[in-house]
Amino acid sequence: MIFGRVKPLDAILATAAKKSLHRSLGPFQLTMLGIGGIIGTGIFVLTAEAAQKAGPGMMLAFVIAGFVCAVAALCYAEMAAMVPVSGSAYTYSYAVMGELVAWMVGWALVLEYAIAAGAVSVGWSGYVVGLFQHLTGITIPKTFILGPIDGGLINIPAAIIALVVTWLLVLGTKESATVNAVLVAIKVAALTLFVVLALPVMNLQHFDPFAPLGFAGISAAAASIFFAYVGFDAVSTAAEETKNPQRNMPIGLIGSLGICTIFYMLVAAGVIGGVGAQPMLDSAGNALPTGSTELAAACSAIGDAKVVCSKEALAWTLREIGWPQVGNLIGLAAGLALPSVILMMMFGQTRIFFVMSRDGLLPSAFSRVHPKYKTPHVVTIMTGVFVSIFAALFPVGALADISNSGTLFAFAAVSIAVLVLRRTDPTRKRPFRTPAVMLVAPIAALGCVYLFFSLSVYTVSLFFGWAAVGLVVYFSYGYRKSNLGRGIIDTHETDADAPPLPVPPVD
Ligand code: ALA
Repeated sequence: MIFGRVKPLDAILATAAKKSLHRSLGPFQLTMLGIGGIIGTGIFVLTAEAAQKAGPGMMLAFVIAGFVCAVAALCYAEMAAMVPVSGSAYTYSYAVMGELVAWMVGWALVLEYAIAAGAVSVGWSGYVVGLFQHLTGITIPKTFILGPIDGGLINIPAAIIALVVTWLLVLGTKESATVNAVLVAIKVAALTLFVVLALPVMNLQHFDPFAPLGFAGISAAAASIFFAYVGFDAVSTAAEETKNPQRNMPIGLIGSLGICTIFYMLVAAGVIGGVGAQPMLDSAGNALPTGSTELAAACSAIGDAKVVCSKEALAWTLREIGWPQVGNLIGLAAGLALPSVILMMMFGQTRIFFVMSRDGLLPSAFSRVHPKYKTPHVVTIMTGVFVSIFAALFPVGALADISNSGTLFAFAAVSIAVLVLRRTDPTRKRPFRTPAVMLVAPIAALGCVYLFFSLSVYTVSLFFGWAAVGLVVYFSYGYRKSNLGRGIIDTHETDADAPPLPVPPVD
């Protein structure tokens, strides 16, 4: 019975036991860690998408997405603190709901991490290209800087940044606390500057009509803008290194999400008040779908003269309200800070593949480790090549939405896993317990389901298509090859998040 294939939590924890880390992080460092993981393409780029979906009502979308993320984060933190080994939602699900669910979650996490890395690469490209064009006065043909759906052919800068980050990961680059602190400072300074310059020139008439596409538009925008909050797992996975996690984890999670929500709302208000954020409509009065050739054509026809057309929404807004140099500075900040988000996402992806391979669900080549750099180079290069292809061809909004579908599925699974484990294993030590779990976990699961189904029909269908492929792969490969299925319950000397030891392939 495949549902009976549950990996014993003790075997998983045996890996963690070998990795004892110094408890040094306090609430401030945790909050910084969270902000570092969270702020990225979402606010810098997807604000334009949110405006196209909801108009000024996108401010409400930011609150809804932030709330769902906060309740999901509280559940995630309980599991992360209890099972502090790599593989995140995949590992938690394996221990609680069995191999099939774990496989499906791991399969969905490919969307979360790899596709998100593609989305952030495209976001980076938009800002860097904008900065280059404004500084030099040279206009690069759209053919080389946008994918086919956006009216170009291939987004070369996006593909290049994905490959550069891949190379750094093969060499074993990890972001240090100091680099994180500097990048947080850059991102927060950029957003603060934006708010300070945009809010005073606010035109309140731009807020009317507030919700031109009704609540459905706001829900759709919330489902997309959810991307802007992903990344808080940087906090939950640091549970083991946290002083007094029961107190400090919620402060770090809710603190970073709360601060980001406030920033995001102020930034959204700045964009709306500064340049207006009404969506582009077709002749029948319906909003043109984001990431579509129709919207790209309509934008081209007006010379991209609306924020919903911009690939660098914040820089564009500042240039429009008379601060072109500061717009360039924002471009520079995004150019410097976004690669670290790509790095984190790709790192997460390679570690999930690594753990799935170590469990026998993926070929052993996926956990092969480079003899010199001690990194899982095969899987890193493979991931990097795919990410760069996605980044080269697809619009940022479409990639972000697809990534969200995987993330929402994984978060819903974790929220359910927390409840299940409270029942099946109530006495196990929980360094952090989700407060009011009987209320918070169901709200988190339902919130994720609500946002999931607020994504476009296209995205939801794509997710189910991907899930179907996943089932085929599982039953034709993982089911037979799984270590657990073959009666091997392995523990590991090291965790995949530490540079892994060179191990010979198992097969
Ligand atoms: N929250 C991250 C971003 O917006 C993923 O780029």
